[in-house]
Amino acid sequence: MKRLWFVAGMTVLAGLVLPVLRAQDGAKVFRLDGGDVSYVFGVNDHKELQAMYWGHRLPGSQQFATPRRGQEVASFDGPVTVTPHEYIGWGGVLYVEPDLKVTFPDGNRDLVLEYVSSEVRPNEISIRMKDIERAVFVTLRYRMDSDTGVLAREAVIENRTNGPIKLEEVQSATWNLPRGDRYRLHYVTGRWGSENSLQMRPVSGGKTVLESRRGTTGAQNNPWFMIDDGSSDDQDAGEVWFGALGWSGSWQIAVEQTVVKDVRITGGPNTFDFGYQLKAGESFETPWFYGGYSHRGLGGASRLLHRFEVDNIVPHAPHPKIRPVLYNSWEATTFDVTAVGQMALAEKAAKMGVERFVIDDGWFGQRKNDHAGLGDWYVNKQKFPDGLKPLIEKVHSLGMDFGIWVEPEMVNPNSDLYRNHPDWVLNFTGRPRTEGRNQLVLNMARKDVHDYTLEWLDKLLDDNKIAFLKWDYNRNWSEPGWPAVPIDEQKNVYVDFIRNYYDILEQLRKRHPDVEIESCSGGGGRVDLGVLRLTDEVWTSDNTDAFDRLYIQNGFTYAYTPAVMMAWVTDSPTWVNHRPLSLEYRFLSSMQGSLGIGANLNQWKDEDFATASHMIAAYKDIRETVQRGQLYRLIQPESNEQSVTESVARDGKQTVLFTFLHSSRENYPFPTVRLRGLDENALYAIKPIAGKAVEGTPASATGGYWMYHGIDVALKGDFQAAAFVLTRQ
Ligand code: DGJ
Repeated sequence: MKRLWFVAGMTVLAGLVLPVLRAQDGAKVFRLDGGDVSYVFGVNDHKELQAMYWGHRLPGSQQFATPRRGQEVASFDGPVTVTPHEYIGWGGVLYVEPDLKVTFPDGNRDLVLEYVSSEVRPNEISIRMKDIERAVFVTLRYRMDSDTGVLAREAVIENRTNGPIKLEEVQSATWNLPRGDRYRLHYVTGRWGSENSLQMRPVSGGKTVLESRRGTTGAQNNPWFMIDDGSSDDQDAGEVWFGALGWSGSWQIAVEQTVVKDVRITGGPNTFDFGYQLKAGESFETPWFYGGYSHRGLGGASRLLHRFEVDNIVPHAPHPKIRPVLYNSWEATTFDVTAVGQMALAEKAAKMGVERFVIDDGWFGQRKNDHAGLGDWYVNKQKFPDGLKPLIEKVHSLGMDFGIWVEPEMVNPNSDLYRNHPDWVLNFTGRPRTEGRNQLVLNMARKDVHDYTLEWLDKLLDDNKIAFLKWDYNRNWSEPGWPAVPIDEQKNVYVDFIRNYYDILEQLRKRHPDVEIESCSGGGGRVDLGVLRLTDEVWTSDNTDAFDRLYIQNGFTYAYTPAVMMAWVTDSPTWVNHRPLSLEYRFLSSMQGSLGIGANLNQWKDEDFATASHMIAAYKDIRETVQRGQLYRLIQPESNEQSVTESVARDGKQTVLFTFLHSSRENYPFPTVRLRGLDENALYAIKPIAGKAVEGTPASATGGYWMYHGIDVALKGDFQAAAFVLTRQ
């Protein structure tokens, strides 16, 4: 995290304002301020850590009294269960989702955490807690980003007893909202080919759990949430609290409205089939759980997240590299990759202005289709008689860098690797090993599997001038056994697998600092703030139908910056909907993220290359704005016949507008598009990238005109699109 400022009330040490407040009555209260946000919590009258405030930034002079436990509702719901805890062990009378649940070797399962001490460093507050009797310590860490007010929280559990303890639930943090009963929960559902479907439901009594039990992040839910105050349907109005988990394993986020209508959100590793054996002397660090607040609606919340990710999360933050325009041959050739065929495609790609050429699945082992070869990471000699070098040199000579596909965590049973190491996969002894896409999951938690994987990837990057790895992952777990370790430790696989996966990515990045990596899981099945710390971009969906993509991408950008959202232009009609879409439309859809081309260039006509060259050049002029700017969703595709996005550059000099018409009806014109986020007194000149505005639209007007009067776009028909650039004069 970059810079942190704590404004509190107020001990100044070495130029820093420390966030420890003494409450009016002498107890401990902690406060963090960043952006427009204040976050306050304290130690209550029972030594528990209690939430006190999370919302719009408060005046620095504001004082707080010692927090008090909630009032018992009846004998059924005692004070502990109705108190807004920051982090609570399962013990005593607790019926809400605990943060930590432990079984001790003597059978005791009661854990009551009390505040012990706090430490305030320039960039974080740490709170230390301990069980009332046993040497189980919990350190909570809080870090707030000064620009966005996004707060990062994690917990470290230390077992200082003299025996092992079983962590049956270990969450990163609990967030508490002000009491309210008009809240709406926003989240996504999905599946392969249909990621990021936006959902909304009222937050009412009971609990909603968003989760993955699949071993990895999954496309069925994604680990983020937004909760708005229900006051407005305007994208950019109303209060919103949001959170996102930095974990690529099985995860859960539980949203509860308690019996006193408090709303609490607890997140961390999934508790299903969980049981982490923590030996004496060991500690367990949870994933980070990020949370933020916006008083500018869901749109404002997304913009904060985008900025936070670009400035704090992704590799090379706060100055990640702008995404190059890439070509990927998967949809053109599938497994039929050969040196000769790829060279021909590379020549065509380079002429259009492509900057990176990527060969996909099929270059290794005996890989002719998805039945064989995964695990055997040597170059297939029939397809590449002289290895990869001639192709890589050719790609370089054409002015592009070179990328390659890998799927390191998987193995086909029909491979030398599996024949030599059948014990390397997730399995329960003597039980079926269920295949998905004819492959099994290598148990990355094993040290030998971790070491082997790191070694071959390292060698691949040592031996070849590779600028980019597309790291794929094409199934979820089944039979997640780890028979090689003692029974008590076998469930550690849920965590140790992911830690080793992260470790490999980290080691590779250290050894090859210029190599960039894409996280792909048969599309967008592994997108989260954990993997984004180690990968430069993500594959959004295998569904490349440009119209479907408007929906998939819209959901994606609720939580994730368009900078990491890979979007290819592919051939039309796609296999998905058999829907013909113009090349221009396909480009404009993809240009809202990080642009790639995935079409079969061998079938393109001259006019296609001309359109592509024009659009790629136009994209290069606007990509800084699209990838780094402030995104406004002016019309969302979900409930409209249109879809419109606007991106305003960070320095305000450029604004890009994308407009899509799904299907016009009864001669109605396209709705007037009113821009947002401009300087109303500045002058902006407008130019089309594709399509046009209606006759009479001024070539230049004030920001006020574009925002309050708006632009009328000349779109009619089915699946039409236009885009414009506004340049501040
Ligand atoms: C799934 C990915 O999402 C595709 O882009 C492609 O890389 C295939 N796997 C290759 O097997």
